[in-house]
Amino acid sequence: MTPPGATADRVLIAGATGGTGSELLSVLRPTDLTVRATCRSYADVNTLDRLGADEVAVADFFDPADAVAAAEGCDIVYCALGTPPSYRHTIGGKLVDRTGVLNLLTAAVSEDVTHFVHTSAIGVGNSKRGLSLPARLLIRGSLRAKRDAEAAIRRSGIDYTIVRPGKLTNDPPSAELLVGQGGDSVTGSIARIDVARLAAAAPFTPDARNRTVEVVSRDGLEGAPRNLVDVDWAFDRVQADHERMRL
Ligand SMILES: NC(=O)c1ccc[n+]([C@@H]2O[C@H](COP(=O)([O-])OP(=O)(O)OC[C@H]3O[C@@H](n4cnc5c(N)ncnc54)[C@H](OP(=O)(O)O)[C@@H]3O)[C@@H](O)[C@H]2O)c1
Repeated sequence: MTPPGATADRVLIAGATGGTGSELLSVLRPTDLTVRATCRSYADVNTLDRLGADEVAVADFFDPADAVAAAEGCDIVYCALGTPPSYRHTIGGKLVDRTGVLNLLTAAVSEDVTHFVHTSAIGVGNSKRGLSLPARLLIRGSLRAKRDAEAAIRRSGIDYTIVRPGKLTNDPPSAELLVGQGGDSVTGSIARIDVARLAAAAPFTPDARNRTVEVVSRDGLEGAPRNLVDVDWAFDRVQADHERMRL
C-alpha cells in the first residue's frame, strides 16, 4: 500500500470519460499525484486535457497491449470501466467488466502497481441480495462478469480495494456515507462523486487495504443497514474540486 504522505505517484484512471471516472478526475487533479486518464476515442483527448488530466492515454481495454501501455509507470490504478447500455448486460459474453478489467489487472501486476481500486456494484457475488431479483435478472451478464473480475483482483497479489456502490446518481456529495462489508449489508443509491471520493482515498487508507465494501449514502439508503464498518477514509489526502467541469 502507498504510505500516507508518499511523494507524488502516477495514478491511472481507467474509464475517465465515464460518470464515475470523470468524478475521480475532479477529485484527484488538485492533488500532488500525476494523473493519467484514459479514453477510448481520440475525440475525447482534448476534453480530458481540459478537465485537468496530466496525461491522457487512448486505450481500448479489450486490447491487452493498450492496457499495458496505459498502466506503464503507474503506481496506483483506479478502474471505473463499465459496459455502456447494451443487451450484453443481460446475455453476457465479452464485456469490459470482465475482459477489460482482467487485461488492466494483468498489466497492473506486471507494472508492480501498489494498489488497485475497483468500482464494482452492489448485486455482485455475496452482495446479490442488495439488488432486487428483476434487476439482477436484467443485468445478470454484467454481474457475472464483475464477479469474475472481483475474484481475479483478490487473487492477484496486488493490494486492492473493491468498492461496490448502490445505484449511481449524479447528485451532489452527500453528508453521510454508509459503508458495509460481507455482502449482506446496505442497499440503495449513492452519488458518483461520493464513490469517487471513497475510491480516491482508498490507497491512502490503511483500513481499506484488501477489503470489499458496499456503499450507499444515508439519503439513498433503502431498508435497514447491516454489517456496517467504520473506515477512517483518508479524505484529507484527496479533495473534490468544486470548480470541476462535467463532460
Ligand atoms: N449505473 C449504476 O447505477 C451502477 C451501479 C453500481 C455500479 N455501477 C458500476 O460502476 C462503474 C462506473 O459506472 P458509471 O455509470 O459511472 O460508468 P460509465 O459512465 O458507464 O463509464 C464507463 C467507462 O468505461 C469506459 N469503457 C467502456 N468500455 C471500454 C473499453 N472497451 N475500453 C476502454 N474504456 C471502456 C467508457 O468509455 P467511453 O466513454 O468511451 O464509452 C467509460 O469511460 C461501472 O462498472 C458500472 O457498471 C453502476
